Amino acid sequence: MMKTSLTGIKPTHIPHVGNYLGAIRPALRLSETYRTAYFIADYHALTTVRDPAALRGHVHDVAATWLACGLDPDKTLFYRQSDVPEVFELSWVLACITATGQLERGVAYKDAIAKGEAPNAGVFYYPVLMAADILLFDTDVVPIGADQRQHVELARDMAARVNHLFGEGTLVLPEPLITEAPLVPGTDGTKMSKSKGNTIPLFESGKKLRKLCLSIVTGSETLEEPKKAEGTPLFEIYRQLATADESAALEAKLAAGNFGWGHAKEALYEVIERDFAPMRERFTALRADPAGLDAVLARGADQARGIARATLDRLRARTGIR
Ligand code: ADP
Ligand code: TRP
Repeated sequence: MMKTSLTGIKPTHIPHVGNYLGAIRPALRLSETYRTAYFIADYHALTTVRDPAALRGHVHDVAATWLACGLDPDKTLFYRQSDVPEVFELSWVLACITATGQLERGVAYKDAIAKGEAPNAGVFYYPVLMAADILLFDTDVVPIGADQRQHVELARDMAARVNHLFGEGTLVLPEPLITEAPLVPGTDGTKMSKSKGNTIPLFESGKKLRKLCLSIVTGSETLEEPKKAEGTPLFEIYRQLATADESAALEAKLAAGNFGWGHAKEALYEVIERDFAPMRERFTALRADPAGLDAVLARGADQARGIARATLDRLRARTGIR
């Protein structure tokens, strides 16, 4: 039987080129070899987002982005977490078999405490809800960034504990699947991240996109000097978008001299325009029809709830609730 790959996307910002190369593109490729379930984790976003219009808008941004990037809702189960309330029932069962100490060791909660913040209980409980997202769907692998590894390992521990207490085969043990794509640098040369203001938004175009490309940090060699492409932020982004031949050609031009960083930035701009223009058009059309997006997500949720109920029936019988 085909294994299941499931992941959640927190709707907190419009995805950037780093999100696409590090998360969206690899997750979509998995749909060729796995049964895939991808969902928008809106209740996870509620630990931080306080603006209802922004939250709703980001859900539609993320839905339109994934569909524009090629997610086929006939092949991939695609839904909004809040449309599947069964996840909360499972999260309670999981909370009841989890030691509070395990949650106190959660990275996000620990970091907040270390920084002297007063995190809400949602931040503390976050890994339990995430484990329920995963375990409800008999997930085998969870494609995620390295920062989420601990959460998936915790979900696995919880599944093993449920099986130990209530019988083997009650829940499937999931594994993290960390993307092998190298980290995409931002315009300042450090990891592209929404919190750093160094991103290239996925569907930026024209003048703004060119300006962002021109703002990428480079060396200060003169036009004539030969330049090493390898390891520069500009080339690291270029390489992940362009073909191998195009990358080799750009590397050779820089190495030969008489080819400035400005020319290389122009090449990056062109490859981004070329790769993302068709997706940008699809995104614009999809995003203009929020009701259409909601309908796609609602269809996914119907299907997801069927699977979720089967898991809960099994669990209710074994825990003695039914
Ligand atoms: P951000 O760092 O902008 O807050 P998130 O933490 O929301 O991004 O990450 C969402 C997904 O995108 C994760 O799977 C993460 O590994 C991936 N990702 C984020 N930034 C990058 C990057 N610069 N390079 C590669 N992948 C990234
Ligand atoms: N915590 C994940 C993040 O911050 C989002 C998420 C919620 C998730 N539930 C999930 C990821 C289940 C994978 C599986 O990016």
